[in-house]
Amino acid sequence: MSVSVFPEENEPRIEALLQQMSLDEKIGQLNQYALREEHTGPLGKKGQVAKRMKLVAEGKIGSVLNLTGAKAIREVQQIAVKQTRLGIPLLFAYDVIHGYETMFPVPLGESASWDLTAIEKSSRISAIEAAAAGLHWTFAPMVDVTRDARWGRVMEGAGEDPYLGAQVAWARVRGFQGDNLADINALAACAKHFAGYGFSESGKDYNAVDLSRHTLQNVVLPPFRAALEAGVATFMNGFNTLGGVPVTADAYLQRDLLKGSWKFAGPVVSDWNSIGEIITHGAASDKMEAALLAMTAGSDIDMESDAYLDHLQSLVEDGSLDEKSIDDAVSRVLRLKFALGLFDDPYLRSSSEREKSIIGAARHHEHAREVARKSLVLLRNENDLLPLQKDQKIALIGPLAADKDTPLGNWRARAKSNSAISVQEGLSAYFDDDLDYSIGCQIVESSFDFAKKIEFAEEDKTHFAAALQIAREADIVVAVMGETANMSGEGRSRADIGLPGLQQELLREICQVNDRVVLVLMTGRPLALAWEAENIPAILLAWHAGSQAGHAITDVLMGAYCPSGKLPMSFPRSVGQLPMYYNHLSTGRPTAAPGLVFYQHHNDVDRRPLYPFGHGLSYTSFRFENLKLEKEEYYFGDSIRVTVELKNIGATKGEEVVQLYLQDLVAMPARPVLELKGFQKIELAQGESRIVSFQWETTDLGYWTAEGEWKIEAGMFRVFVGGSSEHLLESNFILNEKDEY
Ligand code: BGC
Repeated sequence: MSVSVFPEENEPRIEALLQQMSLDEKIGQLNQYALREEHTGPLGKKGQVAKRMKLVAEGKIGSVLNLTGAKAIREVQQIAVKQTRLGIPLLFAYDVIHGYETMFPVPLGESASWDLTAIEKSSRISAIEAAAAGLHWTFAPMVDVTRDARWGRVMEGAGEDPYLGAQVAWARVRGFQGDNLADINALAACAKHFAGYGFSESGKDYNAVDLSRHTLQNVVLPPFRAALEAGVATFMNGFNTLGGVPVTADAYLQRDLLKGSWKFAGPVVSDWNSIGEIITHGAASDKMEAALLAMTAGSDIDMESDAYLDHLQSLVEDGSLDEKSIDDAVSRVLRLKFALGLFDDPYLRSSSEREKSIIGAARHHEHAREVARKSLVLLRNENDLLPLQKDQKIALIGPLAADKDTPLGNWRARAKSNSAISVQEGLSAYFDDDLDYSIGCQIVESSFDFAKKIEFAEEDKTHFAAALQIAREADIVVAVMGETANMSGEGRSRADIGLPGLQQELLREICQVNDRVVLVLMTGRPLALAWEAENIPAILLAWHAGSQAGHAITDVLMGAYCPSGKLPMSFPRSVGQLPMYYNHLSTGRPTAAPGLVFYQHHNDVDRRPLYPFGHGLSYTSFRFENLKLEKEEYYFGDSIRVTVELKNIGATKGEEVVQLYLQDLVAMPARPVLELKGFQKIELAQGESRIVSFQWETTDLGYWTAEGEWKIEAGMFRVFVGGSSEHLLESNFILNEKDEY
């Protein structure tokens, strides 16, 4: 069922207002600019803000980004409302990606919770805080499916799977927007980046993308469709080309698909200067042409390029552009403004008192701790090294152990720097005492700079000795390592995704003096950790887990919370295996014949992932048995019920994510070897068992054709159920076209 967020009764008001607007005023609605010297794109010129404030007063700006705070927003809103002829209020937008001031885990990490209610609640709280700071619109969720961990922005999405991605997209949109956009706590959401950005070649940000229409339909678009069905109010296009066409100028994507067959009624915003970048892509010769291409293709709002501001008027006047396309774009912007209630009260979200009382509320932090611990993934736990025991002497080591900033992650909106609970603080609060601690080494964020050549940090091993000393004297070592917040995120692609810098070397030396090592891994992306997975007995993936990271990690380390997270993205053994994803095609040579080399693999590495999609251990154990289908054959129109018995056979209460996968054995084009089609997170007490059931309609068993038609093919299907994409029970059924009798 699709949610609709644009009330019908606003349509006559939109039409009436449009009738009153001059061409100049209409174009004003289509320009979006930052009003603070904080830029999420390339830096602009000095003095720009003052010039832009003038544009606001002239009605030449319709929406603003990067300005926050009830007071600041009220002041600018007053200019638009009081000084322009028609008094059309501005929209204020910001990247509220995983929290406003209270930070939740980075989206990839939060998706590892597979807990849609918790994810929705994080977005709800983010919206409540951001709306209290005067904002109307977040540029989230990013719903790009991502298969290449080198890409820095994997941290911002829900990982490699279109089904999980779609569920998470739905939850986030519902969370941000609530039930009514006009509500004081609602934030309009934005599904981005439409489309294909997550497939940038070799994981390099901003790189070109080329993929088939079949992959576009079945892998890239499902989370966008889910966002649309959840009622997402806006879409953002992106920086990439798709088959050579900059998506900002892609009429198939925006006009034919999104606004045509999908009937999306809200506005599409460009990415930061992505209209200007049509020129650098080599697809337009100047800004005038770029403006024409983008507007014709259906990009309604120009973020930061000046192309619409400077050229739309003449394009209409010289007849190159029909004013109707401007009218369509403007009515989309107005539709959003009306839906948000801005014409009824432009200052609804601009109360400083409310802002003070709401932002950072204790209950927001309670949820931040709750969702963070649900997001942690126990990758390895040899001989039940975890949970730690209270009487163990712990050595806490590593560059991220006392770090109060890294857990905040990238895209941290208005979180105060260094405001997260560190692991050191979390553990100390638990033990009521300071632990033996050593930083061990530092992480230096190396960056390739063309002017300076490559800058690498001096290898500084000064702290190794102190770290080894406390490791030697401890019962157990907790090493907190990984990537800093700035090593993933936009523009932070990496070619080498091992543990950065000296960290692995330090770990190797620690293992020489104490082999009881727990690695707490902070990262925004999957890392290639083949050595660590062999040699470190326990690995807890902690992502960049947000404001309450240290407490949440302590809860899991000490067993106060039984880990339940599952990977939303495969961990490769080696960077050379990328892109790596579980729902790949079979290929013509899928399996090894003994002694042969002519099959699909790399010769120098085990071709399986290091940790597969859906993997995550617990402190208890679960047994899956009795996978049952009611029948062996089904007919189009039937319902298919799958049941499985799940039993907690371990020593403690815990949660398991029951994952249901499907394989359509014969289809043209061929379907993947596995596709996630359902999941449920189930809590069971020790010894408890439960029958878990899933129901499909046969119509759910189809796939999208390249033309965007939903197609169901009769034939043999295989069903798999288990606790990760690698350990699965299986059964078969046949789908027939119709019952002959
Ligand atoms: C990013 C977008 C973001 C925009 C505005 C761009 O650089 O690609 O995702 O919403 O900046 O901050």
